[in-house]
Amino acid sequence: MFSKVVATGSFIPSKFLANEDLEKRVDTSDEWIVTRTGIKSRPIMDDDMTVPDMAFNAAKDAIESFKKKDPNFTVDDIDLIICATTTSSHLFPSCACQVQGKLGIKDCISFDVAAACSGFVYALSVADKFIKTNSVKKALVIGADALSKTCDPNDRSTIILFGDAAGCFLLEASEEPGIISTHLHANNEQADALTLGNKQFIDDSSLQMQGNQVFKIAVSELSNIVTETLEANGMDKSEVDWLVPHQANIRIISATAKKLDLPMERVILTIEKHGNTSAASIPTAFDSAVKENKFKAGDIILLEAFGGGMTWGSALVKY
Ligand code: ACO
Repeated sequence: MFSKVVATGSFIPSKFLANEDLEKRVDTSDEWIVTRTGIKSRPIMDDDMTVPDMAFNAAKDAIESFKKKDPNFTVDDIDLIICATTTSSHLFPSCACQVQGKLGIKDCISFDVAAACSGFVYALSVADKFIKTNSVKKALVIGADALSKTCDPNDRSTIILFGDAAGCFLLEASEEPGIISTHLHANNEQADALTLGNKQFIDDSSLQMQGNQVFKIAVSELSNIVTETLEANGMDKSEVDWLVPHQANIRIISATAKKLDLPMERVILTIEKHGNTSAASIPTAFDSAVKENKFKAGDIILLEAFGGGMTWGSALVKY
């Protein structure tokens, strides 16, 4: 049994913070930000919204899209909701349980996964295992985060990076692939390079990052995971049609594309407009490509991410 991505959805807040806005707040410049990161703007969640609200909107978008293919589908057909987030409004009820409630689903399995920017790939891997073992037939996998709210507004090294969004995959059990394989890793040795404290327990709970340390580990581990993913499936890099990377930094993304010998036209990029939306970056980038009809049935798509923990992972998907 395989998990097939049968629909996708997104929620991107309508308010954007441009580099020019940040120039007025801290000692930075549009030129510095664009050269070092590739980011020009980032969406910012309204103060009266929560991460579960964004997650719900992304799930609704995916569900509406699936209903066009299968008008008999109802939300009660969903057996599992996994939400990847580290910025939900509550530790409990989880973001996934709140989405379940907002969708009006009486009974399904719902829980959150915390793996920072790698969260979506982690959640996808967990959902895939539920489907592969015949435990569930349909699953919503959501990545939703609002890291812009966690940065010290005076810290120019972090506020330039993060935006807020949510993205969703609807997975369905299928005889045909689907998700071909997933590969997950974590190592806590250099975790201090990227931390987000829990307000209740940590005095300085703003997001802390040693950017250049994270950068070096990310480039190296993402190169390793490309090799691991291809070798695990006996595939050559020429067989990969698209790369949907976590959108942290255009230079990290370019290094991974180079490793795959993939031209940048085959890399789905949202970083310029959206910045780093953490667990939401892969599903929203994937969804943007779906909406632009970029993927064809049978295309081989590599998803990869790196984030706090340190965590990293990949998923190879046949569309
Ligand atoms: N504007 C102007 N100057 C700045 C800014 C800014 N916004 N931010 C930092 N600088 C300065 C620094 O103070 C430093 O100055 P100094 O040399 O006088 O000390 C100089 O620029 C260079 O700083 P670096 O941190 O070495 O810059 P770098 O080229 O590494 O770029 C960046 C920083 C963009 C953060 C990069 O390191 C990066 O993208 N790292 C990876 C981030 C990432 O992938 N995070 C993982 C996912 S996030 C998650 O899991 C939540």
